Amino acid sequence: MTSGGDSPGMNAAIRSMVKVSAARGVRVMGVIDGYDGLIDGVFRELTAFSPGSPMGLAAATEVDLLGNEGGTLLGSARCARFREKEWRTRAAGNLRGIDGLLVVGGNGSLTGAHLLAQECATLVVGIPASIDNDIGCTGMALGVDTALNTIVESCDRITDTARSHKRVFVIEVMGRQSGYLAMASAVAAGADGVLLREQGRSEETIVDSVAAMIRAGITSDRARRRILIIKAEGVEVPCTRLVRLVQERLVTDMPTLEIRGTVLGHLVRGGRPSYQDRMIAGRLSLAAVDALLEGVTDTMLAWMAPVPGGTPTSDPAVSRFSLARVLEETDALLDGTSVVTRWRLQTLNALEGALGL
Ligand code: F6P
Repeated sequence: MTSGGDSPGMNAAIRSMVKVSAARGVRVMGVIDGYDGLIDGVFRELTAFSPGSPMGLAAATEVDLLGNEGGTLLGSARCARFREKEWRTRAAGNLRGIDGLLVVGGNGSLTGAHLLAQECATLVVGIPASIDNDIGCTGMALGVDTALNTIVESCDRITDTARSHKRVFVIEVMGRQSGYLAMASAVAAGADGVLLREQGRSEETIVDSVAAMIRAGITSDRARRRILIIKAEGVEVPCTRLVRLVQERLVTDMPTLEIRGTVLGHLVRGGRPSYQDRMIAGRLSLAAVDALLEGVTDTMLAWMAPVPGGTPTSDPAVSRFSLARVLEETDALLDGTSVVTRWRLQTLNALEGALGL
């Protein structure tokens, strides 16, 4: 099942999970449209009977073909009903006869998986998938690498035109409450500055800092032909408002300055998965099938875990964390008490002075 905001790599995870299962003689059904489909009992075959295959099973043709595509073959949804026990009970009833469930999704989806694992007999394991990279206990979630490549490519394109006209650009990227995409892409794209919710700045302070970046970049001996600032969508000042406020702030001593804003929005969610997202999808899915076959439940498979406490697997890059621990660490990531968030902010503070040089 794929659930929540879709992300590149979900189809790669479906393909890998189905092929590994077929190789072990395990028949796979896909749940359509996330928890909505689980509640309504909407399933489809993902393995096909294949007399010529060692275990008599193979991946359904469509699964093989779409593994390289973005989005998710199964569809996804944000399912408010699943927060209520009566609907979860309905979903658990639909899982009778199914030995194990793999949930590929973000925070909300893994919260649902945790509740399901507690409330029904079916084994449930999760794989982190969200471009926001805001899931605890895993160094990367599916979709992050592809999203970063999309953002960097977009920044490069914007830089071409910004340089031609000596303009300032503010580019807003997705990430919900996490500034990871903004921070990581700002460094890779050679941005002059980055704005994150985690910096905890007021609107006035944000305008001050952007105006200072521009003044430093344009009036100094460097005379930059392009100033690029990446803004995480979690920074509550809308991109258009920020552009207007900065323009007003600088109009007196920089009357010819041109500032533009671009919101990348859902562009960042699409696209064929990168090599890294396909590779991570494959290795997490293999570990997920192994975990289910061992009878493991209420567990997420993590990639390059940045925190201790995981259980190692046969893959040195993959470890198992209880979903309870994952959800606890996810909260810490977002409220800033996680060591990971603190490290990310320390790194950004160290870099920020250098970004504009
Ligand atoms: O969680 C992934 C994400 O793309 C966030 O970055 C973004 O804020 C949100 O989903 C958008 O949600 P929707 O696709 O429902 O508009």
